[in-house]
Amino acid sequence: MKLNTEQVAFFKANGYLMVPAAMDVQLCAEAQDLMWDALPASARLVRSDKATHVGPFSQADESFDSEHIRAGFRWQLRTVGTSQTLLNLVYSDAICAMAQQLLGDSPLTRPVLNGGTMGRFGPAWPGGPTDPAQGNEGARGIYFTLPYGDKAREPDACHTDGHPFQLGIVGLLSDVPKDGGAFKVWPKSHQRLYPTFQMQYDQPRVPYYDHLPSHKGIIHSQAYLEEVAKLEQDTQAVECYGSMGDIVFWHHRTAHMAGHNYTDIIRQAVLADFWTTDLDSSRLVPPQPNMWADWSTEIQANDGTYSAKFAQSQGLGTP
Ligand SMILES: [Fe+2]
Repeated sequence: MKLNTEQVAFFKANGYLMVPAAMDVQLCAEAQDLMWDALPASARLVRSDKATHVGPFSQADESFDSEHIRAGFRWQLRTVGTSQTLLNLVYSDAICAMAQQLLGDSPLTRPVLNGGTMGRFGPAWPGGPTDPAQGNEGARGIYFTLPYGDKAREPDACHTDGHPFQLGIVGLLSDVPKDGGAFKVWPKSHQRLYPTFQMQYDQPRVPYYDHLPSHKGIIHSQAYLEEVAKLEQDTQAVECYGSMGDIVFWHHRTAHMAGHNYTDIIRQAVLADFWTTDLDSSRLVPPQPNMWADWSTEIQANDGTYSAKFAQSQGLGTP
């Protein structure tokens, strides 16, 4: 499976690309089963009883284990990130071919069957987030978002990920309607944010110390913070909703957020990162005048133009 010129153009210009039906639906169904099978038998959340699907998780069902989080409206299973099912689903020949087409000559780093998974070393610091790159040899895992029920509506807030990689994917394991918690992206943000970092594909971090608790984690430049604030004002986010098996590719520096789920259906997705074997050297290089210099000659040569019809199919220009 190859991306056509218009798809490559759209990704280059907007920092994301939805590709319908890129994942095998049978494998999507198997991944759903992995998620539900991981739930304790005693849980109040019951697959066959939709009335129990509305969040937040009851206290009895909560888990703060970094490898299997169930808290609030988030349900994240990471222990399956290197299972045969997820490797077949995410690192299929079709998806890897498209990723390689964008990323160029340096080969993709391959996942390791039953290898290390995200979260096995716990959060990045006490009470902090989990680093998706630490000890992870496969997909990030399966991420569900429970329906918000009567939770008050919240404004959108975007961020970028600090850990090193080049290309992300979010794949839908079931149909996700509009307002159903799909991944949200800020079009063209990758072009605006890439120059605000000190390193192309990585970010400096302050170590955590118990006795110096005020500063910890990734550091953002002032230019980055100002640009993110502007993006939230001047750019309409696009919600990457769709059907079981659809995926969205997104550039490392694309501003995004996990969507809010205002429907009564659980948002079911798989998340993974792609990077090439030369990332260890390219990640520390400062932003380049040509932000695509490490990417494929095909994307570098592409002029980034696409039709209005295609833009509409990607959620741009629709009310
Ligand atoms: Fe993120």
